[in-house]
Amino acid sequence: MTDHPHPGVYDFAACFPVTGGGGSRIRGPPPAHTMSVRGPAPESIVRALTGIKPTAVPHVGNFLGSIEPALRLQETHDAYYFIADYHALTTMHDPERMRRHTREVAATWLALGLDPARTTVWVQSDVPEVTELAWLLACVTGLGLLERAHAYKAARDKGVEVGVGTFFYPVLMAADILAYDADVVPVGRDQKQHVEMARDMATFLNVRFGEVLRLPSALIRDEVAVVPGLDGQKMSKSYDNTIPLFEDPKALRKKVMSIVTDSRGVDEPKDPDTCNVFALYKHFASVEEQADLAERYRAGGLGYGHAKQALFEVMERRLAEPRARYREILADPSTLDDILGTGAERARTVAEGVLTRCREAVGFAGVPRRRRPTR
Ligand code: TRP
Repeated sequence: MTDHPHPGVYDFAACFPVTGGGGSRIRGPPPAHTMSVRGPAPESIVRALTGIKPTAVPHVGNFLGSIEPALRLQETHDAYYFIADYHALTTMHDPERMRRHTREVAATWLALGLDPARTTVWVQSDVPEVTELAWLLACVTGLGLLERAHAYKAARDKGVEVGVGTFFYPVLMAADILAYDADVVPVGRDQKQHVEMARDMATFLNVRFGEVLRLPSALIRDEVAVVPGLDGQKMSKSYDNTIPLFEDPKALRKKVMSIVTDSRGVDEPKDPDTCNVFALYKHFASVEEQADLAERYRAGGLGYGHAKQALFEVMERRLAEPRARYREILADPSTLDDILGTGAERARTVAEGVLTRCREAVGFAGVPRRRRPTR
């Protein structure tokens, strides 16, 4: 991949005509509307962008369900991944946790293989242009669109007062996506509506003011099977059934041993396909190892304790190295700050270009008349 363009070098000046020429001012060819994560490599490099809220330390379900697929994407896409601290602020009002989780989430992704030389990684609030774009979008968006948002409706239906930030969440998320000219947005199914709303808002602005925003598409991870938690329900922080990613081996083993199984005795034959232990094992073991363990389940003579030990071992095999790296990264704050700072610079260059287009289009000076005194 020697021809991978450095994400910092997009020439935005070349994208807008000096005189209003009617043409699109948006970078590159329009995106395909449906793509698959495993599809063929795109002809031109497609920009994939996603945000990760720093509301908790990532667990095994996050790793298998979103982190791993996103990290695979960086091989074939121009990946833009950020820590969504503005979004976390809608629900998390604890500055110490905000700081800590922001670093932990960034360190987790880096430890698992995010390559900062190739992928642009930054903290959302380091690029305040996003909030400006959110305002421009708000001014062309009707209340009705936001009232249809699932997350807002769910919050409202709880009967407690909904924060303005929660109501505004989809506008900010649209700005996140649109400020970086993203082509595809890899997300779970629960975020599909938000990406569609981003498309809608981009269209509202484009229709009124000319083609300034690129229309993104959601890239839904369908092939990822549900990752069960300790109790067999989907692994989720809200069910309190998670397995932390980077705990000590001892603590990890203890968690694995607490996975709920049925009460079949050691000698009885067992069904791998309905077993929570096996469901997790599949994600960490080779095809041969899976076939082998499945066989032993069916034959009888394998206790759940043995199956759990086997699971622990394959998990440890996969996670021991990233765990060590994770700890190193957290122990060296200035290196982490350098990585996130470099990412923020690159990301900001892109967002500034997009904002210049938007500001010109709506009738503001393209570049603010009074520039920030220092950078
Ligand atoms: N709303 C997303 C979530 O809860 C996080 C997010 C914020 C995001 N901004 C984004 C995802 C932009 C994709 C693109 O998971």
